[in-house]
Amino acid sequence: MSSHAHVIGWGKYLPQRVLKNGELSELVDTSDEWIRTRTGIRERHLVEDGETTADMAVQAARQALEVAHFNPTQVELIIVATVTPDHLFPSTACLVQDMLGATRAAAFDLSAGCTGFIYGLSVAANMLLSGAYRSALVIGAETLSSITDWTDRATCVLFGDGAGAVVLQSGENEGGVLASSLGSDGSGGDLLWLPAGGSRIPTSQRTLDERLHFIQMKGREVFRFAVKVMHDATCEVLEKAGHALGDLTLLIPHQANQRIIEAAARSLDLSPEMVYSNVEWYGNTSAASIPIALSEAAEKGRIQTGDLVVCVGFGAGLTWGAAAIRWTRPQPMLAPLRRRIVRRLYYSLARIRSRFRRLIRWLSAFGIKDGLNGGRRSKE
Ligand code: COA
Repeated sequence: MSSHAHVIGWGKYLPQRVLKNGELSELVDTSDEWIRTRTGIRERHLVEDGETTADMAVQAARQALEVAHFNPTQVELIIVATVTPDHLFPSTACLVQDMLGATRAAAFDLSAGCTGFIYGLSVAANMLLSGAYRSALVIGAETLSSITDWTDRATCVLFGDGAGAVVLQSGENEGGVLASSLGSDGSGGDLLWLPAGGSRIPTSQRTLDERLHFIQMKGREVFRFAVKVMHDATCEVLEKAGHALGDLTLLIPHQANQRIIEAAARSLDLSPEMVYSNVEWYGNTSAASIPIALSEAAEKGRIQTGDLVVCVGFGAGLTWGAAAIRWTRPQPMLAPLRRRIVRRLYYSLARIRSRFRRLIRWLSAFGIKDGLNGGRRSKE
């Protein structure tokens, strides 16, 4: 019997701090009116000092596991899509694995700009379909505020921080991720990029002075590209899944700009009710935007069992992609209090476990060093 990859849990996390358009107009030459009419954004959430991409990813993941009634030890694969990892390495996915106490999970990061979550969902679903894994946590998480140039009005008004996550589980019943369609065009890499800090332009005093560690974007070109690929990727994934636009229940587009969302909806001939939008409240959270929107739509009851949902995105790379999902998970019941307390306890234990493993590693390194010294001494 063939297997299917079902979305059985979802969660989102937005940091507490809210930055409204009015506050941005104190930083750069802009206005609430300009930002709202050109982008549809009113406010965005930003991390507090010390809060990181991994921290937000863990919060979203915990919520998704709660909805799925899943223990972290049942997760076999963790993919974190992000362009703002905690470090270049180790991967943010490994940090998340440790913080969750997902002791049986393989973990890696995936970089595909704002399309990262769709890429991650596609990779995870196919790994489940192959039979190699039975469950996966796919997370999109971003701290874009850390790579935003707060002196550049053309970009700083657009972005926000946050995280979203889904739990995938393989099952024999029909439905789940029906198809995905991914694309790329590296010739457009410099339309949206972060120039320095990699092997081509390593960090130096010059890169710091020239502000090359922040997002740079050619907005108009990205706009045109976005509208076209949102249309094409949606049609392509529906065709791959054996469906027509008329079968669609809800389109969940990447939340970059309300004008892009509306233009895509118009070109697909979809009514506004069929297209989910929350860009007004969160801005563009890159790889986190689709899982945040998907989780919010599910929480609000906008997605019901049997619905056909298409998630579609575009972003740096250039990349684009779409995934068609037949929703099979009914609205979740809250897990019993006892189970929730046990899970919370487990997360505290995961922290202790992590520290304990570091201590053991430190002690064994100390032991080996002693052994080496001893060896040298004995030769002398
Ligand atoms: N406040 C006030 N004025 C601004 C401004 C701001 N925050 N940002 C730009 N402007 C000015 C420009 O300087 C320009 O002035 P000029 O005509 O005197 O040169 C004018 O507004 C128009 O700029 P333009 O870039 O043509 O605006 P636009 O209508 O294309 O809107 C974006 C700009 C960035 C909102 C729009 O192009 C966009 O959303 N692009 C896609 C970006 C995106 O989605 N990126 C992420 C992809 S994952």
